[in-house]
This record gives sequence, C-alpha cells and structure tokens, in this order.
Amino acid sequence: TGYSNSASADLGAARTVLSLMRSIEDIGRDRARGGYSRPVYGSAELELRSWFLEAAAQRDLDVETDRNGIMWAWWYAPGKQRRDAVVTGSHLDSVPGGGAYDGPLGVASSLAAIDVLRDRGFVPSRPIVVAVFPEEEGSRFGVACLGSRLLTGAISPERALALRDGEGVTFAQALTTQGGRGDRIGADRDMLARIGIFLELHVEQGRGLIDLGAPVGVASSILGHGRWRLSAHGQGNHAGTTLMAGRQDAMVAAARTVVAVREIALEHSGARATVGRLQPIPGGTNVIASRVDFWLDVRHAEDAVTAVIVEKIHAEARRLAAEEGCTMDLVEESVSGTVHFDATLGLELSVATGGSPMLPTGAGHDAGVLASEVPTAMLFVRNPTGISHSPEELCEDDDARLGTVALADALAHHAG
Ligand code: GLV
Ligand code: MN
Ligand code: MN
Ligand code: MN
Repeated sequence: TGYSNSASADLGAARTVLSLMRSIEDIGRDRARGGYSRPVYGSAELELRSWFLEAAAQRDLDVETDRNGIMWAWWYAPGKQRRDAVVTGSHLDSVPGGGAYDGPLGVASSLAAIDVLRDRGFVPSRPIVVAVFPEEEGSRFGVACLGSRLLTGAISPERALALRDGEGVTFAQALTTQGGRGDRIGADRDMLARIGIFLELHVEQGRGLIDLGAPVGVASSILGHGRWRLSAHGQGNHAGTTLMAGRQDAMVAAARTVVAVREIALEHSGARATVGRLQPIPGGTNVIASRVDFWLDVRHAEDAVTAVIVEKIHAEARRLAAEEGCTMDLVEESVSGTVHFDATLGLELSVATGGSPMLPTGAGHDAGVLASEVPTAMLFVRNPTGISHSPEELCEDDDARLGTVALADALAHHAG
C-alpha cells in the first residue's frame, strides 16, 4: 500500500471502523430523499450521540459534553492531565439526503484508531480526545460549524440563540429541550487552552484522491465560503385570473436570479456559486408566489473575489426583480475566509502517514474554524464516486481501514 505502518495487525484492529459504521447504517435514513437526514438535535442525531456515548464508554473514554453541546471523549495520559490534548473527531449531523460518511466516518475512525493504538500496546504521553461537533452542516439552523464557531467565539451567543430552523424553532429552544442553557453557551477559552492540536479525518468530497490514485491524503486548505439569503417580494395572486402581462411573480424574479448566479460565477475562475434551496410563499400550484426565499452559497480561494461575486449577484438580482415588478433583498448568514492549515503539521502528518499527498478542498469543516485557534490538520479518505452531500457518497472498506491506521499513526506521532 505504501503506508509504512499499515501492518496487517493494524489493519485487523482497524476493522472496528467498519462495524461502527455498520452499527449506525439504519439511523436517520431518509426514505423520501434517499441517503440520510440527521439534523442536529433531531431524533436521528440524538440517537447517534447516544451511540457515541456507548462506544466511548466501551473504550473506557471519559466523556464530557461542554456547554456548547460538543462531546469530548478523553483517553487520559498517565497522571490524568487534561491539557495539551491531541484531539480528533468530526460531526454526526448531515445535510438533507446526505451520504453515510460525511461526518460519521471521522468519528468512527477516531474510535477505531484508539482500538488500533491499544492493540499496539501504545500508552499516550499526551491525552487523546475524540470530539463530536454539533450542527457542522448548518442544515437545521443555517450557520455551518455552529458548535466550533461557538467554542471559538466566531459567532456570538446572542446571534446563535436567535437562529431559527425551518419550523420556527429557535436554537435557544432546541438547546433547552436538550438540557442545555442559552446563558452558558459561547467562547470557551478554558476548553480551547486544553487542545494541543486538532486532527479531523473526513471522507473526501471530490475527486482529488481518485485522480492521485491515493487512498488517503492531507488537506492543505479550505476555500473561503459563505451563505446569503435572498428574498424576492412580489404580489401573490390567482394563477388563472391574473394575465401574464403585469404580474409581479416572485418566483420568476428568483428563477432569473438563479440563472444569473451561474453566469456571474462563470466570470470568475475557480468560483463556485449555488442555489440549492428555495422556499416559495405561500407555495401553491395555483398561486403566484408573493415571496420566495432562496439561499446562495458562494466559494472562492480569494475572499475579496467572493465579496465581489456576491455584490454582483445582489445588484443583478435587484435589477431582475425590478423588471418583474418585484423587489429583492439579500442578507448575509455566515462567511468564512479561506483557511490554510498549519503547514508544519500538514507536512508532519503527510510523513507520519507514509507520504500522503496534500490537496485543497472546497468543503467546509469544523477543522477550518479551529485552525484559527490551534494547529490543525485534516486527513481525507478516498471517495470512489467523487460525489458528496448525496446518497451516492461512498468509501471502500479497505480505504476506511487505511484511513483509520493513518489517523492512528498521526495520533501516535503526536501523543507518543
Ligand atoms: C459542509 O460540508 C460544507 O462545505 O458546506
Ligand atoms: Mn458536509
Ligand atoms: Mn462534514
Ligand atoms: Mn379559487
């Protein structure tokens, strides 16, 4: 395989990543969309959180759930010190109709990496911690990486508490239902001070590793990205009695904007712009929409270019809306600048895992948020379909085991 430490004993011990993944394969299946829908603090994600607590207990890890809802499972170094931790982990929530691996693979492989290290008789001299972050996708409350943003102070508690899901439930209410307290969330310098480094393993979400012919890689950077909500306002009316001329159809204003989004993105090399969610109000087949809310996702390596693209889209959306007798407004929901992971750590990780190639990614991760606070790196495991945020996302068993051993090697390198 080229992975120097991938001894057969390691690969044997790493098989628990497969049984862990199998044990959750029925949780949160989405029969309507296919794949999985596991919104944070919904029944499926809560079931996965319980699954994690049980898997951690079976491994004698000491779990604490912090005030931001992040779970931390500690494997103490001798002396039970709780600082300078080598932290790994990922998330258990998903996008609507997402794949099985985005998030859970990072959690399952972290637990299985501990199995590999124990099988080797490894004794950590720094604590190893498996972390699970809530609302990485932002699928329920709109802001991606909400748990890590709260932890680092990248979002204020006030803003977070006021976020609403599609049913109008606020994050504050969801938190209270889970026994959390709104007045206690927010930046946690004590917790951050205990993290020495953070390593996140994730299924790759594009074709980088397929093209390189490598099962495992190391992330070099994350594209800057953000989310904006556009709202087209028109005049709701009857589909049969309202002549085509003179309509103020918010859906037409939105549809023309969606097409413009693609045109504007194409003017900027490397840019990605997407409208993947659209909500007509009131939403009836025989009703001209009075308002359409739709969400824009824009990504580019240069943050200034992202800003220009969004400004152009806003201007063009307003112009198109006016042509339709409508108005348009745009509200920023979240923005994250381009992140370059710690170069030294990335190189070390590449070497420690037998020379894994380095590659950039267009997908966001909690690691991208933590990178501003602690040395952070990511391992990617090949996805043979190259497709993600879709039921077609995939990871081969052999690659999942190689990724787990690579993670174990990285943890051993830093915690040994
Ligand atoms: C998270 O997966 C994102 O990149 O949106
Ligand atoms: Mn994702
Ligand atoms: Mn993810
Ligand atoms: Mn009628």
